[in-house]
Amino acid sequence: MSAIKRTYVVEAAAKINLTLEILGKRADGYHELRSVVTPVALADQISLTLEGSEIALTVSGNPGVDLTRIGSNEENLAYRAARLLQERHGAAQGIRIDILKRIPIGGGLGGGSADAAAVLVGLNKICGLGLSLDTLKLLGAELGSDIPALIMGGAVVMTGRGEHVASILPAGKKPVSGFWVVIANPGIFVSTAHAYRICNPTGGLTERPDAYKNIISSIRSGDVHSAAAALFNGLEPGVFAAYPETARLAERLQRAGGLGVLLSGSGASVFALVRDASHGEALRRDLGSGIWSVLTKTLPDGVMVAHGPLEP
Ligand code: C5P
Repeated sequence: MSAIKRTYVVEAAAKINLTLEILGKRADGYHELRSVVTPVALADQISLTLEGSEIALTVSGNPGVDLTRIGSNEENLAYRAARLLQERHGAAQGIRIDILKRIPIGGGLGGGSADAAAVLVGLNKICGLGLSLDTLKLLGAELGSDIPALIMGGAVVMTGRGEHVASILPAGKKPVSGFWVVIANPGIFVSTAHAYRICNPTGGLTERPDAYKNIISSIRSGDVHSAAAALFNGLEPGVFAAYPETARLAERLQRAGGLGVLLSGSGASVFALVRDASHGEALRRDLGSGIWSVLTKTLPDGVMVAHGPLEP
């Protein structure tokens, strides 16, 4: 009798940073951060199947996703996440990972991190490893600074270099509505390490306690106008100066009527908060078809789920 193959599918949501404060430089070369991060309803689809005797990875992409930017398997965070679970926690030897990419690669939207988060959460379930959320976050932090936030799901405050995350909306609270957002990508690549290197030429830090406080209350109340006023990214001035395409795209979104416009993470994607879906569509029409953009919504209380089995 042949074994039944089960494929689990995980929607790996992208993220945007609504605020990103740089609080210090650490001895290990990383920066001490405080960042309010929220997933959005733009997600890669990760299918996980237990089969074969090694880790197999395929990546396909929606139009607008430049697959030439995908590195080797060994560099791929999803692949590395599966390997980490095998080495440390005895996940199955044969794992097929099929990724459908919808999130632009290297765009400051956490696409690679989201894929790794999905593999950690999905394999934990499919292989019956029984690892706690905290253990998964620790494993995720070894692979990349954004991964713990994406494992946690929902709007979070991220501190340290990203390894500490706390939910903004405590469990059991009434759901709040997300913000409509247009995300656009100028089609260039910004290295995260470079963005951090150039962020603070004068050594000055970018603590913004007001922005931090206000963004949290805006998320809790669902008030997009106060959220727009509170947006802040300490990496933005350096990235805008070094990569003028990002600054020009932000200007276009602003001129087109974005309520608040910000570089996402280390870029190159830029996002605009908008009033509603029709405002967002109008903004996208204004941008034209030459620039990749998407209208989506933040998921303030979203949780990552592994669905399945979809095919017994
Ligand atoms: O952790 P991750 O691989 O995403 O980080 C990529 C690079 O970004 C790091 O090698 C580091 O140069 C920079 N970084 C940083 N401080 C952080 C996060 C990332 O300096 N908190």
